[in-house]
Amino acid sequence: MAETPKKAFVIGHPVAHSRSPVIHGHWLAEHGIAGSYERIDVAPADLPDFIRRFAESGFAGGNVTIPHKETVLALVGRLDEAAELIGAVNTLWLADGVIHGGNTDAIGFSANLDQSAPQWRDVKSALVLGAGGAARAILHALTQAGIGDIRLVNRTLSRAQELSDRFGAGVTAHGWEAIAELAGDADLVVNTTSLGMHGEGGAFLDVARLPDHAIVTDIVYVPLHTPLLEQAAARGLHVVDGLGMLLHQAAPGFERWFGRRPAVTPALRDLIIADLEHAR
Ligand code: ATR
Repeated sequence: MAETPKKAFVIGHPVAHSRSPVIHGHWLAEHGIAGSYERIDVAPADLPDFIRRFAESGFAGGNVTIPHKETVLALVGRLDEAAELIGAVNTLWLADGVIHGGNTDAIGFSANLDQSAPQWRDVKSALVLGAGGAARAILHALTQAGIGDIRLVNRTLSRAQELSDRFGAGVTAHGWEAIAELAGDADLVVNTTSLGMHGEGGAFLDVARLPDHAIVTDIVYVPLHTPLLEQAAARGLHVVDGLGMLLHQAAPGFERWFGRRPAVTPALRDLIIADLEHAR
């Protein structure tokens, strides 16, 4: 008897911009799995109903994107540790009839660095720019990796302080003006702000101040080479773009819904780069 096709979704509002269907479609084809992954636009008012009922429609689970990542926390039966600590859900799956909510952004961030800058596992200090939703996943990843000196810098100091309270003594909060001073011995720099998305320069961080061994990464992937990464690369530093995090955060969901562990390959990267170019 043929296996029942497995189905997964990405929900958001709007959701048309999501690259997840291209990623999962590539993996489904690569593994020869009879399954589907579709975009579903779910308005905020319809979210509770959608979550209650998706299993009845044959879905094994799916991804959650803006604006539902936080609202969905209260709608699932069980949260994984990452979703609780980060305060947002990006992946849903069913297990034993219970809807589980997880967050794979921290895993995606770490896996991207493991692949592109494995020496990051030895860093002692990290400079994190920005204290929004994305920063919470990065702080989870960095604390999980055992980095004991994480300097969190944000334009609005109170937001950095809130995250420092949440993630413990290893995370210290600083105002934006502290960047220059903190850069001098930062082994790893992570930009989680939206700076760079709209053509802003990377001037907020003078890369000349960073140590020669510093790794610089940005979670923004449009553009792929943000001004910060370009300046860091020109200075000869090891740079890692944000596209890898997007690809790696998708893998755990695929494995839960479709039962196979997918790989993040250069072919997948090229596919998404072409798709992003096409959408411009
Ligand atoms: P996300 O969930 O994607 O992280 P967010 O919660 O809106 O989005 O956070 C965006 C981050 O970019 C914040 O740290 C924000 O700083 P504030 O907390 O001070 O708003 C930061 N950011 C956005 N524009 C910025 C700018 N022009 N200069 C410095 N930081 C900026």
